[in-house]
Parts: sequence; structure tokens; C-alpha cells
Amino acid sequence: MMKQSILVVDDNDINRLNLKLLLKDSYQILEAGDLDAADAALSANRVDLVVLDLALPPEPDNPEIGLGYLRRLQQESPETPVVVITGHDERAIAERATANGALDFFGKPFDPDEVKDTIDRSMERHRQQLREQQMQRALDMRINNELLGDSPAMQALRTMISQVARTPSTVFIRGETGTGKELVARQLHAHSDRAEQPFVAINCAAMRADLLESELFGHEPGVFPEAGQRKLGWFERANGGTLFLDEVAGLPLSVQGKLLRALESGEFSRLGGDAVIRSDIRLICSTREALEKRVANGQFRDDLYYRIHVVEIEIPPLRDHIEDLPQLAEAIQILKAASCGRQMQPLPQSIIEQLQRYSWPGNVRELENVIERAVVLAEGDTVHHIPSLSGPQPHHDEDDLLQRWLAQLPDSGISAEKAIMDFEKRLVETALERNQQIKVRAGRWLGFGDRAKDKMRYLCDKHQLEIHTDTSDQT
Ligand SMILES: Nc1ncnc2c1ncn2[C@@H]1O[C@H](COP(=O)(O)OP(=O)(O)OP(=O)(O)O)[C@@H](O)[C@H]1O
Ligand SMILES: [Mg+2]
Repeated sequence: MMKQSILVVDDNDINRLNLKLLLKDSYQILEAGDLDAADAALSANRVDLVVLDLALPPEPDNPEIGLGYLRRLQQESPETPVVVITGHDERAIAERATANGALDFFGKPFDPDEVKDTIDRSMERHRQQLREQQMQRALDMRINNELLGDSPAMQALRTMISQVARTPSTVFIRGETGTGKELVARQLHAHSDRAEQPFVAINCAAMRADLLESELFGHEPGVFPEAGQRKLGWFERANGGTLFLDEVAGLPLSVQGKLLRALESGEFSRLGGDAVIRSDIRLICSTREALEKRVANGQFRDDLYYRIHVVEIEIPPLRDHIEDLPQLAEAIQILKAASCGRQMQPLPQSIIEQLQRYSWPGNVRELENVIERAVVLAEGDTVHHIPSLSGPQPHHDEDDLLQRWLAQLPDSGISAEKAIMDFEKRLVETALERNQQIKVRAGRWLGFGDRAKDKMRYLCDKHQLEIHTDTSDQT
């Protein structure tokens, strides 16, 4: 890891040397003998913290020079923390310095422990502040429905969105459940010149076929028993804006024809009405399954398929950009904690690693649910435990696990023994997850037969797997 850097501003060579000797093991030290040199160093380097002597030339007895510089730093680079050096026993000056934005101070002559403590503490406080700013950004991004993630895949997705958003093209979004299809559709709308117009989302799979047609195109009074009043359909309401057909594979064949005609002509009529209505919409469709299969076996009209499949955006599953998980998890934790009025410590590295080993069949939505559960169940301000990661596991999960271990083994220093232990533990956890945490069942599921109960008791002890409900005697 790269060392954090400290700029020492002090005209006294001996002082600079002393500080350098004290701090160089933990930090990278830059030096400046006067304020011009300090400015030059600040503009040429990344500086994480400034140590500033207040007694500086041309008037070493007048701390106003140093205090003035401190104020200037606060204005010009408020994100760089400053620790000041005061003379011997100068409390009043130290207080003025902190009032002017110094994070902390230490006195001359240097007490090595005091210097190191002060600097370490200031760095830590500064890191904490940075973290809070990052959190705030994450929060702002979520509130604005931004896509999180800096992986190449997510960057490419963002580029694609910004390229496509301003065009009138029909967009076809493909992705597994919970990958963010609706989020991407909203982004496309938000970055288009229709952003001020309505965004209308309709889930084609969640609606009764006979109602879907009237939902889409509206109806005149009395067309069918429930049709009391005239109703505008989504096509009409989205006029000028964006119509998002979510789960387009779920469109019944009967509606597909009418949809195609409406898309081609830009015209349609309400159910039971003669008036021709024009609607100007930008269409976005999404699917989580291979729509091509439905086309092949006649469940989806091929002419409609070609009409909606113009520009395709594919969203990768979370396991394919798992390097984004720490950022996503962190942002989600903040959000979930905030919504129950709590403030949490960052997720421990071990938890992040556990989350990164999982295959996330439910993608980001599943991650949201898992973290919400963990936050709700956390005692105190730190998540120490992730309630079991269950849900349908794709069959290649164990293979993935093996692949990851094989990739790690040579250079991470993880021994084969540890890998086997971990594997055994995962196996037992999975068995328990899939068997309602009932040991004896899990044991039989693993093929231990009559010895299931004893073996599972042994394995749970070995891996310190606590089962909270004592159901071990059930069958
Ligand atoms: N890259 C991302 N950054 C931040 N949040 C994300 C990201 N991807 C997904 N999400 C969040 O995950 C949740 C699920 O996203 P969304 O509803 O868009 O998924 P979907 O693909 O439409 O899922 P489904 O197929 O189940 O309808 C939402 O809360 C969304 O904000
Ligand atoms: Mg969706």
C-alpha cells in the first residue's frame, strides 16, 4: 500500500530532520523551509496532511504569519488537514490555531510519542472525514438513482447509457433479475431530452392479459363491466415521455399485434372507441429471459421482436462485476441504516469477503435484502454476522468456489489445509441452509446416513457454527 504523505513546513532544518526521523517509517515526508516552498510542494504532490510551524520567517517571533497561512490553506484546500507546531507551552496560540481550522497541535521541543500520537490520530480523523464524505456522495447518488460501481463493466454501462439516452432509439434492456434494468431505464429517461415529461413503467408479466390491453391503450365507458368511466391508457399518459415495458416477454400474443401496430403508426384507439389517438413515446423494453426462445417457439411475434430490439443494453450479473460489491454494500448499508435511524461502522473486511464469495443469483436486489437484514439484526453499530445467504443456488456455484480458491492459492499464502477447512465449512453451511438449519436433516442430505446427527454435531463444533433454534433433535 502506498504510504500517506505529510508535508512538513518549518524553517528550522534540525526540526524538519527530527520530524522526518520520527515519522518516516509510517509516512512519506515532504519538506518545505518557507511558505513559497510549501505552496510549490502542495501543487506538485498529493499531500494528505500538513505539519505547519507557526514561527516562520520573515518574523519567526510572530505567529500571525503561520496563522495567516493556515487560514489560506483552509480556503484553498479545505480537504487537507493541518497540524500546527506551537512553541513551548503556548496554549493560547494552540487554541487560536484550532479555531482557525487546525486539526491538532504539538509543542516544541518534540516529545516523540506526542508527535507520533498526534499525527496518527489526525490522519485517522481525516480518513474518517473522507469516509463520511464518500458516504454522503453514495447517499446522494442513490437518491438521484445513480448507478454505483467503478468496474469496467459498470463504466461501460454508464457510457452506453449516456450515448443512447439522447437518441430517440428504442432500447432493449437485458439482464437477470435484480441487476438494475428498471434503474437503467430511468437513467435513460432522466438523461434524455424527455426528462421533464412522464416516465411510465408497466410490468407486462404482472397483469391479467385481458386487463393489460386496456391498461396500455385505455378504454371508453361501458366497454366491459368494470369499465365505468373513460380511462386513459399508459400509451396516452406517456405522451411526450418514455414508456417502459418491463418483462416484455410476458405480453400475451393477443396484445402483441395491437402493440406492434401502435408502435409502427404511432396511432391507436382506446378500447371501445373509434377516435384515433396519436402518442409520441420513446420506448424501452426489458427482459430477464431469452426472448429469442419465445420467438423461436411462436410465443412472441418476430415482427414485434425486431421492432423493439433496436439498441440492446445488457446488464451483467453482480457475480461478473463482483469487484463493485464493496462499494455497493457500503452504500446500501448506509442507506438501510439511515432508514432505521442508525449509523453503522464500515462493514468488516471479513464480511465483505464473505459477500464476495457468494454468487448472488438475485443480484443487487438480493444484496440490498441481505444487508437490510444484517443491519436490522446487528447488535451495536457493526455488522459482525450475515444471516444465511440462501436462495436458489446456480449449480455452478461450487465450481466457482473451486476456481476462486485455485486462483488464490499460489500467491495469497492460503494453505490447501485452510482451503479444505473453508470448503468443508461452506458445505456444512449450505447443507444447513437448504435444510431449515436442522442438523440431522442436513447431515442426511450430505449423505451421512445413520451417523448424521453425530457427524453434524462434530462439524458444527469444529467450524463454530451456532444454530440458534435448537432443532437438532427433529427429523
Ligand atoms: N449498479 C447499481 N448501483 C446502485 N443500485 C443498483 C445497481 N443495480 C441495481 N441497483 C438497485 O438494485 C435494485 C434492483 O434494481 P432494479 O429494480 O432496477 O432491477 P431489475 O433488473 O428491474 O430487477 P427485476 O428483473 O427483478 O425486475 C434497485 O433498488 C436498484 O436501485
Ligand atoms: Mg424490474
